[in-house]
Amino acid sequence: MFYRYEDGHRLPHDPLKAIVAPRPIGWISSRSREGKINLAPYSFFNMISTRPCLIMFSSEGHKDSVAFIEETREFAANLVSANLSVAMNATSVNAPRGVSEFEYSGLTPVDCTLIAAPRVAEAFATLECVVTEIHKPKDRHGNPVSAIMVIGEVVGVHIDETILTNGLVDMTKAQPVSRLGYMDFASVSETFQMFRPKWEESGR
Ligand SMILES: Cc1cc2nc3c(=O)[nH]c(=O)nc-3n(C[C@H](O)[C@H](O)[C@H](O)COP(=O)(O)O)c2cc1C
Repeated sequence: MFYRYEDGHRLPHDPLKAIVAPRPIGWISSRSREGKINLAPYSFFNMISTRPCLIMFSSEGHKDSVAFIEETREFAANLVSANLSVAMNATSVNAPRGVSEFEYSGLTPVDCTLIAAPRVAEAFATLECVVTEIHKPKDRHGNPVSAIMVIGEVVGVHIDETILTNGLVDMTKAQPVSRLGYMDFASVSETFQMFRPKWEESGR
């Protein structure tokens, strides 16, 4: 099948998020200027540069995470492992601004090292970030859309060493959870390796 996006998909549910999948989940913790703390999952999340290390998440609308981050220009991205799936999902509750999703979901906020935002004590890894840009994307006609993209530079990295095997983050231990389409999630159960080809060795 093919459809022009603007004509609609004529399927029971929009397939787009099932096609752009699996998506890593950034579990974004932040603090407001007055000290309230916030936690929410964002699957419009990724790393966009390594030197410096920049990561981004995108909020569809001006949600609490964006509001807090605009105030303090810092946030942390916590890793969601399979054992934290239910708690992660609980933190997506549409709680009134100022209500801590840490408390709502029974998670433990602990201080970050370099930034004021809290981190999730139960998470196996956390990236501490300082905001570099809060970007307002546009559609192809140049009209602003409701999404707000927050980009942050990673300034600190926490790793629970129990997920390391020979110094490498072991996916079978970290069991990162990703977002698929519809109401579906996946966690990593199998990995395989490939090495990038070198043109000089290809014989062409
Ligand atoms: C796994 C998962 C991924 C999500 N990803 C996004 C996302 O990328 N962008 C977004 O705007 N909302 C996303 N949501 C919904 C937000 O988590 C939800 O609206 C939440 O209440 C926002 O919290 P906040 O207002 O405290 O920032 C996601 C929810 C779940 C469960």
